[in-house]
Amino acid sequence: MDIIEIENLKHRFSDGTLGLDHINLKIKAGAFVVVAGPNGSGKTTLIRHLNGLLRPTIGSVKVAGVSVQQDLLRARRLVGMMFQDADSQIVGETVYADVAFGPENLRFDHDQIRERVALALEVVGLKDFSDQRPHLLSGGEKRRLAIAGILAMEPKVIVFDEPFASLDYPGVKQVLKQILTLHQAGDTILVITHDLEKVLAHADRLIIMHKGNIVRDGVPAEIIGDIETFGVRAPCASQLGMEVLSWLN
Ligand SMILES: Nc1ncnc2c1ncn2[C@@H]1O[C@H](COP(=O)(O)OP(=O)(O)O)[C@@H](O)[C@H]1O
Ligand SMILES: [Mg+2]
Repeated sequence: MDIIEIENLKHRFSDGTLGLDHINLKIKAGAFVVVAGPNGSGKTTLIRHLNGLLRPTIGSVKVAGVSVQQDLLRARRLVGMMFQDADSQIVGETVYADVAFGPENLRFDHDQIRERVALALEVVGLKDFSDQRPHLLSGGEKRRLAIAGILAMEPKVIVFDEPFASLDYPGVKQVLKQILTLHQAGDTILVITHDLEKVLAHADRLIIMHKGNIVRDGVPAEIIGDIETFGVRAPCASQLGMEVLSWLN
């Protein structure tokens, strides 16, 4: 089943900039997709259509068979997003309040929220930080907090926009582990990143964007050959294999 269906999507910003030119994209439920492409190629613009933060100028975006525009609340429950800047996503006075914010907004009931928040904090290993102020967390902990906020909403699709940017090595490992756990639990994963060597071994599909279009789309090993043409640095061949998998253990 295709959990994401995008047809003939074009997005032009109010100042006239063409953010997306012509996008057709279907993503199967449970897939692990990596999206790469140079700055300004339209990656963030694309994923912002998945939960209605942006609306198509032309075309349609469906999540689990229903148009995003038709039912925004449903789309926001189904698609969780971790934005580029985890700091700007912090909204709560405490770690607990921060994680509870999303489900409260999506109007889940209170008992359900308490359960979900507790479970989400446990999963990302921040249970003991419940009463702490989020701004005191480290970079990696802040991203894990953002992930907990998404988990608490129990989405089916989780989008990570540059999840490794400016993280140190332990931070990258922590975040990557969380992403892999979510994928193993059956979620559909989209990761936007420049750091292909960090995730590509786990992905079953690689999409390259360029100037608002998808210019390559396929099994990573089959398409990495010429992606440098589009300004995307390819990982070295060995990093597509078992070495990266073992690196996590
Ligand atoms: N709010 C906006 N208004 C006008 N142009 C924008 C806006 N947001 C992004 N753009 C432009 O749209 C294009 C795609 O941007 P973006 O999706 O952010 O690229 P990426 O995430 O791949 O770096 C770029 O040319 C960018 O400058
Ligand atoms: Mg971006």
